[in-house]
Amino acid sequence: MSKIIGLASDHAGYPLKETVKQWLTEWGYSYKDFGTNSTDSCNYPEFGHALANAVESGELETGIAICGTGNGINMSVNHHAGIRGALCWQPQIAELARQHNDANILVMPGRFIDEDTARRCVEKFLSTPFEGGRHQARIDAIPVK
Ligand code: RB5
Repeated sequence: MSKIIGLASDHAGYPLKETVKQWLTEWGYSYKDFGTNSTDSCNYPEFGHALANAVESGELETGIAICGTGNGINMSVNHHAGIRGALCWQPQIAELARQHNDANILVMPGRFIDEDTARRCVEKFLSTPFEGGRHQARIDAIPVK
């Protein structure tokens, strides 16, 4: 997995996004932060789309997106072709999102996840490979033809 991770959040996800940066640095990753840059109220699609564009274009392989519930920014990134955003609130869901769904954007609910759980979700997401096999055909069938 690429060592450059894209990051995006709204105001509700901003505090956890800043903490995620510290973990990424600790683990030897770099990051590209698409905002937001404060806890001032803002609209999650703006930042979700900026991150999703970078992953969709191939500029980045992987991203992490955070809003209050995770739902709004997850809906935003999943409007992009080739984006598989996975809303995760337990490490095992993050692990399965990689193993079974080949998720390329980890989405977390900043207002509904504690720091230790979020850290373990990020760890699993970044360290778990896609299993392929029967899961590949399922992923291939996701885009509306
Ligand atoms: C912001 O108040 C909140 O609506 C947003 O972070 C997110 O939870 C939306 O899905």
